Order: sequence, then structure tokens, then C-alpha cells
Amino acid sequence: MVNPEQYVSFDNMCKSNVSHIINEFAKDLKNISGKCMDVGCGPGDITKDILLPALNPKATMIGTDIMENVVEYANKTYGDKERLEFEVLDIQTKKLPEKYISEFDHIFSFHALQWCYDIRQTFENIYCMLRPGKTMLILSIAQNAAFFESLESMAQDIRYASYMGDKKKYVGPFHYSARPREDLKELLEDIGFQVHHCSHRELSNCTSTEIFMSLVTAQYTFAFLDKMPHNLREEFKNELVHMFTEIKVKKYRDRQGNYKLHDEEKETNIPAAYSILVAYAQKNVS
Ligand SMILES: C[S@@+](CC[C@H](N)C(=O)[O-])C[C@H]1O[C@@H](n2cnc3c(N)ncnc32)[C@H](O)[C@@H]1O
Repeated sequence: MVNPEQYVSFDNMCKSNVSHIINEFAKDLKNISGKCMDVGCGPGDITKDILLPALNPKATMIGTDIMENVVEYANKTYGDKERLEFEVLDIQTKKLPEKYISEFDHIFSFHALQWCYDIRQTFENIYCMLRPGKTMLILSIAQNAAFFESLESMAQDIRYASYMGDKKKYVGPFHYSARPREDLKELLEDIGFQVHHCSHRELSNCTSTEIFMSLVTAQYTFAFLDKMPHNLREEFKNELVHMFTEIKVKKYRDRQGNYKLHDEEKETNIPAAYSILVAYAQKNVS
């Protein structure tokens, strides 16, 4: 996330998704004490205001994120010496720092793992960081045609390709899966997790495209924008909005059968469909 302040002011959709899942798992969470981690915590507002209060008051939390400036912002704005601090960690790393291994009683991750194209390494790291018998609760974006497919196509456009790099980085690991729930469950079980809950849920988002783009382009994945000359950056953003809108409207029409947009109906009123994966799983005791 390049700009944490910008993200905090627009992240209502994320707050509402996280609150919903936290309420759903409230009974399991309220007894968790000990050391917890929030992976891909972003600016820290959700970690502090939604996750920490859901746990036993004795629980402590480390929020981790790949972006140094985000972690710095989170420590300054939400950190305290007693229960909450923030550290830099790339959850896809092949060299997990020793200090995190078998240290945690619970790990959360919300709206972050869709950016991890090495999803097996990511969950292996989470598994490694948990103490035996301890749990994780994750929510990740599974499918988002308007967003992932626009980015995938732009990563192959000669104007942007050298800045964006491998197109794989811009498409969630389950986006093209025909059975995202089953694929995630199988992966977790293969790593050694006992899966207590795994679901694939369809959602839609009515946030205006402008706000949505401000939210997402404030993230780590879009750090390449800073390297673009000003004109190209503006062109990229306009084109992303254009492609996103085109796919969003097309998918909406497909879902509605022969529905036609009335001239007077604004495109901004049309919801963008996306789906999430939610999993609650436990590391084996042995
Ligand atoms: C959409 S934000 C989610 C923030 C917060 N958890 C929420 O639910 O609103 C995604 C966060 O994941 C972080 N992220 C992306 N790739 C990561 C990685 N490989 N390791 C750790 N964090 C990562 C980004 O820097 C960003 O802050």
C-alpha cells in the first residue's frame, strides 16, 4: 500500500466484510488469548478496531505487512507497547524469520492473500508460524473478473508491461478456478491443516469506480505506478477504469439475461460482482 491515509479513508467495504466474518466466528475468537498475527494488515485500523476487540483481553497482536511505510504508519497511528505492534513481513517469503516459527496462537488475514501468487508457500508459512493445535481465520478475494482481468490484460500491453512485470501477480490464485472452495480446502489439508470451515461466497460492491480505484491503487501491488512518467500513469488509471467498467457492465448484463441499461441509468449504480473465500482451520496437534 503506497498511501495508508488514502486507504483508511476509503476502506468501508473491507471493514464491513471483516466485521461480518468476525461476528460469524465470534464464539471461537473470544476465547483466544496469547499471541496473534494479522497478515497483510494494511494501515492497522481494522487490526486495532475490529480484530483485537474480538479476542480475549489477554491476547496480543502483531500486524504484519510487506510495505515498510504502511508498517511505520500503523505503528505510529495504532501501535501501543502493550497489546499491538506492527512489523514488516512478506508472507510469501521462502525464508520465514526464525522468531515467527511456532509462535502464534491465532493468525488472521483479510483481503490480502489474493496478491500472493505463490499461495502454497503463503499457507505453508502461516502453518509454520502457528503453534500446534492453533487456528487461522482468513478471507481472501477469490474471483473478480472486472478487476483481475483488466489488470491481466494491461500487464500484457506494451505500454505498461515493463512496469507491471509478470501478469500472474495481478490475478488472484483462485480467479480461474472452477471449484475455488474445493481447491482451497484440498490445498490446506495437503499442508496439514484440519479445515473446520471453508466457503466460497458471492458478493457485490456498489462503491463508485472512482473510490474503488483509489482504494486499490493505494496498495503495494500498484507501487509500479510511482515509476511511470506522469502522463503514462494518468493514461494507465483512465484505461483501468475504462476496462473495469466495461467488464463490470458486461458481466452485469450476462447475469440479468437480456437486461439493457436505460440511457438515463448511470453505470455507477451497477454493482461489481466478486467472490471471497473464507476459511477457519487448525494446525495439527502433533
Ligand atoms: C487490501 S489491503 C488489506 C488490508 C486489511 N487487512 C483489510 O482487510 O482492509 C492488502 C494488504 O496486503 C498487503 N500485502 C500484499 N502482498 C503481501 C505479502 N506478500 N505479504 C504481506 N502483505 C502483503 C498489502 O501491502 C496491503 O497492505
